[in-house]
Amino acid sequence: MKIKTIAMFTSGGDSPGMNACIRAIVRAGVFNNKKIIGIRHGYQGMIDGEFIEMNSRSVSNIIQRGGTILKTARSKEFMTATGMKKAYTNLKQKNIDAVIAIGGDGTFKGAVEFNKKYSIPFIGIPGTIDNDLDGTEYTLGFDTAVNTVIEALDKIKDTAAAHDRLFFVEVMGRDSGCIALWSGVGSGAEEILLPEEKTNYTKLVNKLKESAKRKKTSCIIIVAEGDDGGGAFKIAEEIKKRFDYYDTRVTVLGHIQRGGNPSAMDRIAGTKFGVFAVQQLLKGQKNKMVGFKNNKLVLVDLKKAVKKHSPLDKNLLSYNKILSI
Ligand code: F6P
Repeated sequence: MKIKTIAMFTSGGDSPGMNACIRAIVRAGVFNNKKIIGIRHGYQGMIDGEFIEMNSRSVSNIIQRGGTILKTARSKEFMTATGMKKAYTNLKQKNIDAVIAIGGDGTFKGAVEFNKKYSIPFIGIPGTIDNDLDGTEYTLGFDTAVNTVIEALDKIKDTAAAHDRLFFVEVMGRDSGCIALWSGVGSGAEEILLPEEKTNYTKLVNKLKESAKRKKTSCIIIVAEGDDGGGAFKIAEEIKKRFDYYDTRVTVLGHIQRGGNPSAMDRIAGTKFGVFAVQQLLKGQKNKMVGFKNNKLVLVDLKKAVKKHSPLDKNLLSYNKILSI
């Protein structure tokens, strides 16, 4: 079937670089004489009929902006049979031949379910600060988020050193420790607690005792949001009960990690993903996610992309154990 109209949307947690990607999709579509429809508020907007026609000017001056001009949402209704039917009816009514979705694993799980019932070619673009999708080495927004965290950690380190304090800093990552690992290594944190590993209080206390013995006057412990210890406040309390040597403070960085101007890396990644997605769709590809493997653009089966989270770089974690003495 010849594709004349392509719809696109952003879904799930926003990530810096989504706008650069939207721009690339719109302009690559227009360049190929296709009609481009933006859907606002992700799958929810698909159900509610929030469709807007876009042209080259709709995406002027957005490459540098965080967030998403199309807005985003996590739609529970889309995962119901009636929600999907409404969404499909709206897509058909607007003569939409193919869809490009920018989002994370929840977004692609939705696309996989949708395609079991209805047949519309889907291409997924990995857009999440978590960098946790199997089948791609990179997801849009991760670089900016890690840099935001590192900038905050540099500041926390200044005050930690000034007061001789131990800081527990909680960063995002419900299921994935990628942000915690990269920001921890990049900022020289003493310990990094990840959802992928069980928190061991004895080990953690021994590490702090060791640090005290080595005359470390201040320490930073990064806690990923999804760590099994139950968050930075709870872990800090548990440690205090076992080793009350350092004056302790807790900082939860929260949603500042998702906003801000995208880094150069995310502008370029968003641009590459967007143009490649349109090109592949026009070549007849469907139900695939675009991604990077060995620095090259690749296509991965959507089903494979959502099967499991990408593995953590255990080498990087082991480096931190060597360097944080
Ligand atoms: O998936 C991106 C992410 O930022 C996760 O790291 C975090 O756990 C979650 O979204 C937070 O979602 P919300 O903004 O809905 O609270």
